[in-house]
Amino acid sequence: MEQYSSKVMDHFAHPHNVGEIENADGVGTVGNPVCGDVMRLYIKVENKIITDAKFKTFGCGAAIATSSMVTDLVKGKSIDEALKISNAAVAEALGGLPKVKMHCSVLAEEALKSALDDYYKKKGVASPVKMPAESGHEHDMGE
Ligand code: FES
Repeated sequence: MEQYSSKVMDHFAHPHNVGEIENADGVGTVGNPVCGDVMRLYIKVENKIITDAKFKTFGCGAAIATSSMVTDLVKGKSIDEALKISNAAVAEALGGLPKVKMHCSVLAEEALKSALDDYYKKKGVASPVKMPAESGHEHDMGE
C-alpha cells in the first residue's frame, strides 16, 4: 500500500483554515456519493482577489489534507487564477497522494469550483466555472 507523504500527514493532523466564513462571498458544498465524504468551502472575495478561505470537511484524512491545502493555495489568488487550480495541483502541493486517494483531491477541486460558481451567481454574473469531468469518480475504493 502506498504511503502518505509527510505533508499529507501534517495537513491531516494540523489542518489549516478550518471553520466557516460568515457572509462568505461564495460557498460550495460537494460530496462523493460512494465514500459519503462531504466538503464545504467558503471564500471571501475583495476586488476579485480571494482574501480568505475556510473549510469544513466530513471525510477521510486525504479529504481533510486536500481541503487544507486548497484553502492555502487560493488565498491571495485572483478568482481567475483560482479557477485554474486542478486536483492534480492540490495533490502535487501535498507531495502526491496514493492513487486510490486521488478522488479525495477531486473533491477539493469541486468544492473550490462550486464556491467560485456560487460567487458568480451571487454577483449575478454568468459563471465561467466548469465542474471537473467525471475524472475522479472512478470510486476506486479498494484497499
Ligand atoms: Fe472519500 Fe477520501 S474523499 S475517501
